[in-house]
Amino acid sequence: MNNLISFKKVSKFFFKKNKIKALSNINLNFKIGKIYSLIGPSGSGKSTLLNLISLIDKPSSGSISIENKIINYEKQDVNDTYRSSSIGIIYQNYNLLNDFTALENVSLAELALNNNPKTATINAKKILSNLGLSKRVNHFPTELSGGENQRVAIARAIINRPKIILADEPTGNLDLKNAKSVFKTLLNLRNKNRLIIFATHNREFAEMSDCKIEMIDGNIRSINGKL
Ligand SMILES: Nc1ncnc2c1ncn2[C@@H]1O[C@H](COP(=O)(O)OP(=O)(O)O)[C@@H](O)[C@H]1O
Ligand SMILES: [Mg+2]
Repeated sequence: MNNLISFKKVSKFFFKKNKIKALSNINLNFKIGKIYSLIGPSGSGKSTLLNLISLIDKPSSGSISIENKIINYEKQDVNDTYRSSSIGIIYQNYNLLNDFTALENVSLAELALNNNPKTATINAKKILSNLGLSKRVNHFPTELSGGENQRVAIARAIINRPKIILADEPTGNLDLKNAKSVFKTLLNLRNKNRLIIFATHNREFAEMSDCKIEMIDGNIRSINGKL
């Protein structure tokens, strides 16, 4: 009941020299208000799974429903709008625009949805300041540390108040101290109207979720916690 996202028999193949099965017949449900971790070795399918949820990629077979609607991958514009309004994505390498300041990187995400530069700037400043970056708003990504850049990326991911937050190895480029602090920030984004899913190699961080999904070779190996 009240699943925000449902995977039904989802498989994903890539065709290079050989056929690669990145995900194999996955059935999974994700509920709003909960935090899920995906853990597993490199190549086990974590990023592929997150890219399907973010509507960046489509399954080879099976179906994915979000908010009880089966995703139609032919409707790219509908999916793009859903992604920018309802999904916040955080990547390992931050994916910030280097020619824009922290403030601009964050406010641009809101401007993409509503064309009001004034409120976008006010909101971006507020969020950056909540994340401890008030002294960094006018800095460019190259002038910030890894931990600061990831916090800017988190601010950008949440400015449109997304229902779904996806983080793909968000602390993969950070030293342990910064990784712990960024994780704390990520876990603090929990609220009852939001679903958070993150992929990590770090068992200690994975344990901090409500439900740990362990993957191996495109399959679910184990699920610890309530789905
Ligand atoms: N765009 C792609 N083209 C070809 N193979 C891919 C592509 N993306 C992922 N794969 C393959 O799919 C499998 C799962 O990859 P991935 O989801 O990135 O794993 P993880 O994030 O757990 O490291 C791997 O064998 C990987 O090489
Ligand atoms: Mg990956």
